[in-house]
Amino acid sequence: MSTLLIIDDEKAIRKTLSEILSFEGYIIEEAADGEEGLKLFKEKAYDVVLCDIKMPKIDGLEFLQKATAHNADVPVIMISGHGTIETAVEAVKKGAYDFIQKPPDLNRLLITIRNAKERNNLVSETKNLKRRVARVQEMIGDSAPMKKIKDTIDKVAPTEARIMITGDNGVGKELVARWIHEKSNRAGGPLIEVNCAAIPGELIESELFGHEKGSFTSAIKQRIGKFEQANGGTLFLDEIGDMSLSAQAKVLRALQEGKITRVGADKDINVDVRVIAATNKDLMQEVEEKKFRIDLYHRLSVILIHVPSLNERKEDIPLLTERFLQDICSDYGIAKKTISDEAVKQLQSYSWSGNIRELRNVVERLVILSGKTITKEDVTNYVLPV
Ligand SMILES: Nc1ncnc2c1ncn2[C@@H]1O[C@H](COP(=O)(O)OP(=O)(O)OP(=O)(O)O)[C@@H](O)[C@H]1O
Ligand SMILES: [Mg+2]
Repeated sequence: MSTLLIIDDEKAIRKTLSEILSFEGYIIEEAADGEEGLKLFKEKAYDVVLCDIKMPKIDGLEFLQKATAHNADVPVIMISGHGTIETAVEAVKKGAYDFIQKPPDLNRLLITIRNAKERNNLVSETKNLKRRVARVQEMIGDSAPMKKIKDTIDKVAPTEARIMITGDNGVGKELVARWIHEKSNRAGGPLIEVNCAAIPGELIESELFGHEKGSFTSAIKQRIGKFEQANGGTLFLDEIGDMSLSAQAKVLRALQEGKITRVGADKDINVDVRVIAATNKDLMQEVEEKKFRIDLYHRLSVILIHVPSLNERKEDIPLLTERFLQDICSDYGIAKKTISDEAVKQLQSYSWSGNIRELRNVVERLVILSGKTITKEDVTNYVLPV
């Protein structure tokens, strides 16, 4: 059910509109002038507003201006009398959704309201989508390598292909994995992350596949593993190069058969999981040293995405710096600081072994230590070239 607000100083008009529109199933609220209308508008979320142009106190144009300043998403339809058509046209230019003429033509009135509502729905849907996408941090950069990566993400995300992401520390491998999930058909499902380097070798199997109560000394209750948790979604195996050989064998089986077994259980469980893996190691080297299984390597790397180091895309530094400045200042609740062009050039001249993560830390340091404008001197003083 949609709620409409009718603002008109003529009681007869309000009454007619209200009767017609309630009959059509709308919930109607009324205001006798722009001031009262504005008060109601700010208190409540209306789906559509119908607003007269000539009114005492606040007139239609002023209402429109104040209402859109408060919330531009609610469509406002102007009601225009004989002498106010020009004003109505002006109102539309200023953001009114449309206008109808007095006396209102019933069909046109209903169609206009329905269209306005539809636009309103579209607007909120778009906002929701944007908010959903914004759950993952934007990938900044329009250098050729970044464009290529974004392009690859768009192509491979909607497929079910397994993906191996390689690249140095802090280049954004995890961010790439998040975007792949977000743009995949599994976005509604979970994204479960496992940092294989952070889990002791003897626990990794129970971490990945779960265990039954009592299956080993510290297994005091049943545990659901990451593969099961990721069912219907994506499992991100980070630092896969650090996984033990015995865990590798089990992961291989899970990928081959789509089945897992909890540690200490005798039943298989079917899982529907897309795996994305990442590593900063040279896996081929690991394969040669017999630390990584070649068959698992091939299973995992149907698609290979290599994220280039920051030194290979220094043209992205200005955009990244600007974004980090914005984010950090807003996190700190301070007015946004600026950075001079020379200071940015100076940043571009450094070598970034810690890549984007290091750049972010440096910008944070500069925000803390510099004045309103970050200068080249600040950069030379506070950023030690590596
Ligand atoms: N293109 C980008 N735009 C904006 N921020 C980025 C970008 N790439 C990475 N970042 C940020 O840099 C930091 C490091 O990125 P991330 O954790 O994805 O790197 P990583 O390659 O997984 O690092 P590690 O190898 O250390 O695990 C994060 O805070 C991330 O949000
Ligand atoms: Mg990472």
